[in-house]
Amino acid sequence: MSSSILVTGGAGYIGSHTVLQLLLGGYKAVVVDNLDNSSEIAVKRVQELAGEHGSNLSFHKIDLRDKPALEKLFASEKFDAVIHFAGLKAVGESVQKPLMYYDNNLIGTIVLLEVMAAHGCKNQLFMVGRRWYHAQRNPISATNPYGRTKLFIEEICRDIYQSDSTWKIILLRYFNPVGAHPSGYIGEDPRGIPNNLMPFVQQVAVGRRPALTVFGTDYGTKDGTGVRDYIHVVDLADGHIAAVNKLADPSVGCEVYNLGTGKGTSVLEMVAAFEKASGKKIPLVTAGRRPGDAEIVYASTDKAERELNWKAKYGVDEMCRDQWNWASKNPYGYEAPESTN
Ligand code: UD1
Repeated sequence: MSSSILVTGGAGYIGSHTVLQLLLGGYKAVVVDNLDNSSEIAVKRVQELAGEHGSNLSFHKIDLRDKPALEKLFASEKFDAVIHFAGLKAVGESVQKPLMYYDNNLIGTIVLLEVMAAHGCKNQLFMVGRRWYHAQRNPISATNPYGRTKLFIEEICRDIYQSDSTWKIILLRYFNPVGAHPSGYIGEDPRGIPNNLMPFVQQVAVGRRPALTVFGTDYGTKDGTGVRDYIHVVDLADGHIAAVNKLADPSVGCEVYNLGTGKGTSVLEMVAAFEKASGKKIPLVTAGRRPGDAEIVYASTDKAERELNWKAKYGVDEMCRDQWNWASKNPYGYEAPESTN
């Protein structure tokens, strides 16, 4: 019988791509999502993309803070591992509404861990953002409530493992996921004004916004704009499958891995690659640095390559090609009328 994986936040951007790779890899995926910032259409499309494996997917609209609902789910199914994506992630909003972020991200995670412990399910994979790490092992500090929830979650996981070494916990630190599934059928669909670079570029390309504002042109980088480690979302999803497989290794305790490409790309380089892939001109407006932004962030990928046997395959050109394929087929995301797909 195939292993059954619970995926919280499985209707979201990274979640939906990971669920698809799980299904294609022969796993059974049970998605839990409150749909606050995601669409059930993504789950339906994943099911279609998975073809004959689509029947191994089930969906439950549950908020993780609803402990009785989660209890009921765990009582009805046995999970071999949990991948926890569910959470709020907008930095600016977290500064405006800190309690909402602490409630959603921390209480949701604590309830999940309590229910897992009560049901003897102690295999888990955690997604833990990335912006506050420069090195594999050294958390620096978080500059906003969203970042702090991620730091706290990581510490909570370490404490749990310390108290009970039968837990197996893999903490994944992401860099900048972009792109979409090559089918153009699933992709990122942020609500409101996008905070991140590529969703914004995509909305300019389809005519929803007039220009991209480049935050900072005076960094000490090759062209003065910020440098990040962009990673194709399908590579990132495959990194999760590698980590799920790693959970079977008896030596795993509480481990941290970076999922990035190890390569840095500037804002202007990313825009140029997207213009090439889409054939669209992206008008630019320059502005000062965005508060809290780092100059250069990229991953050290040695540990993931060595221990997870995983390495990102796609480059910036493929990321932009697939981002544009998704954008041009779904200019208004999942809520677009069927005729635009
Ligand atoms: C941002 C968040 C980070 C969060 C991550 C994923 C901040 C300070 N950091 O990281 O906490 O985990 O997104 O949600 O908000 N850029 C522009 N114009 C734009 C948007 C971005 O020039 O409209 C630039 C940024 O200045 C940066 C680069 O593009 O140099 C990438 O930005 P973004 O996609 O927001 O990612 P991060 O800054 O890495």
